[in-house]
Amino acid sequence: MSDSSPSIPRHVAIIMDGNGRWAKQRGLPRIRGHEAGAESVRSAVRTCKKLGIKYLTLYAFSTENWIRPRAEIEGLMGLLRYFLGKEEKEFHENRVRLRVMGRMRDLPEKVQSALNRMMEITAHYDEGQLILALSYSGRAELSDAVRNIARRVRQGALEPEKIDEKTISESLYLPDVPDPDLMIRTSGELRLSNFMLWQLSYSELYFAPVFWPDFREKDLIAAVEEYGCRQRRFGDVK
Ligand code: FPP
Repeated sequence: MSDSSPSIPRHVAIIMDGNGRWAKQRGLPRIRGHEAGAESVRSAVRTCKKLGIKYLTLYAFSTENWIRPRAEIEGLMGLLRYFLGKEEKEFHENRVRLRVMGRMRDLPEKVQSALNRMMEITAHYDEGQLILALSYSGRAELSDAVRNIARRVRQGALEPEKIDEKTISESLYLPDVPDPDLMIRTSGELRLSNFMLWQLSYSELYFAPVFWPDFREKDLIAAVEEYGCRQRRFGDVK
């Protein structure tokens, strides 16, 4: 993705909410909502490329989502594999690198293999990154980070007094990825739902009233335009 001007966010993170309600409104099974949501994922990747947004993080499956009915979980995992197969060409054409953020080992083996394969074959692309948050939650990420820091302290590799914000940022799942500039949640819900709790500290928040399957190019452009009008102060006076 091309050079970004200050009014274009470098990193957009999205809570893709409302697939189930979208399907219910149409008298369809929930999985049809997720399938329509996968089309919005493709649209979001293309729009980010077009606008010059370098990082796109999508909350695709939370650690809490494991309590959903088994059939829905299996449907979502199958959809993820299908998506990776179907979108391979798009990844190459757009030169987008796929990455995963979360407890990937929790996912079914076949999904892990499909993800690993796609991550490997796109690892050299530098025009944009699509980051899928899978079996992810902000608190789980922070717990994992704290555990790693504690190990380093126990090994004598780190002094407790030296632990600062940088130590924590560097212990998160993808330490090289900049914090999101803009966080979008669809479906009108006004919650963070355990998403990137550390990284969203200074992000601009945007809540779209539409369900995720209806969130397409014009909606992402509207969110980015609104972002361009916000004044980010990071605690300073301006
Ligand atoms: C939230 O809507 C959505 C999810 C838990 C899953 C998101 C998954 C997709 C968009 C499918 C494809 C993803 C990829 C990366 C190909 P919900 O089910 O909680 O909706 P509701 O709140 O209306 O019930």
